[in-house]
Amino acid sequence: MTDPIVSVENLKKHFTHREGFLGMKSRPVKAVDGVTLDVHPGETVGLVGESGCGKSTLGRVVLRLIDPTEGSIRFEGADITSLDTAALRPMRRRMQIIFQDPYSSLNPRMTVKATVGEAMRIHGLVSNDDEEADRVAELLRRVGLRPEHSSRYPHEFSGGQRQRIGIARALAVEPRFIVADEPISALDVSIQAQIVNLLGELQDELGLSYLFIAHDLKVVELVSKRVAVMYLGRVVELASSAALYGEPKHPYTRALLSAVPVPDPKRERSRIVLEGDVPSPLDPPAGCHFHPRCSIAKKGLCDREAPVLRELTPGHQVSCHLAE
Ligand SMILES: Nc1ncnc2c1ncn2[C@@H]1O[C@H](COP(=O)(O)OP(=O)(O)OP(=O)(O)O)[C@@H](O)[C@H]1O
Ligand SMILES: [Mg+2]
Repeated sequence: MTDPIVSVENLKKHFTHREGFLGMKSRPVKAVDGVTLDVHPGETVGLVGESGCGKSTLGRVVLRLIDPTEGSIRFEGADITSLDTAALRPMRRRMQIIFQDPYSSLNPRMTVKATVGEAMRIHGLVSNDDEEADRVAELLRRVGLRPEHSSRYPHEFSGGQRQRIGIARALAVEPRFIVADEPISALDVSIQAQIVNLLGELQDELGLSYLFIAHDLKVVELVSKRVAVMYLGRVVELASSAALYGEPKHPYTRALLSAVPVPDPKRERSRIVLEGDVPSPLDPPAGCHFHPRCSIAKKGLCDREAPVLRELTPGHQVSCHLAE
């Protein structure tokens, strides 16, 4: 096995939630609360879980777009946990992010050429305007856009085309690792497959590694080699796609998957209804965070002791007292 390109250990991000008169009282929001995860070169790791469980926060902390509260982040073997802005700059080009909403993540006053070319210039990857124009044209072609359209503005493009611009912008600095934060959730279903295919082709050609964040479990199964399921800031199950979808072990994963329609009747699951919403990370339940919604929780155990992530079969990790 090759060394991981990204390796996070016991990573935490606690925000401060202010309340009361003039925000005098504060409580921690444990958005990410002790995540350990590797991504290998050329690999896609899927990250799923309900809204608010900390997926985007984890993606941002890994890229050092926000600072971690605790834990460590290694990128290409180097510890980047506490690098300052200047020391991070050369790293920035090797790790990029693609956002969910191509409408709000592009500057409406910048042409496509300026948008894609900006980072190349900042990182000194082009030496003159001609070289920049050539490189932008090549990238636009590569993501399926017409180079003749490089002087247009974002509003002149469709949603799918804007996401292609976002991808070209990320690729402009020749990254090795990309956090794709719900890259297709805002797109029409008919366009989603095109963007997923494009990301797959780029991965094969360029050897990219992805942390692919998504709500849609079916898409994640298609694109990911391994999948991590998050619940209230913690990874509750981590396994190869085949093992996670074929033999989910955590009651939460089972519940999530039981809600996904499957074409193969052999894989049909009885529907498990998840009661209630995800509790607030301001006030997480004691013991196993999932126990109030869990159909198999044991009194005296699950409501008292927090389970740790343990390996049940090689490569299949589960954080549940009762999983076997
Ligand atoms: N800057 C912030 N300050 C305070 N709390 C925050 C901040 N950013 C995120 N949070 C809180 O952290 C938790 C995790 O948020 P995050 O956006 O990471 O979840 P998510 O899994 O990406 O959700 P979604 O699926 O809706 O995108 C939420 O409770 C959110 O309200
Ligand atoms: Mg998010």
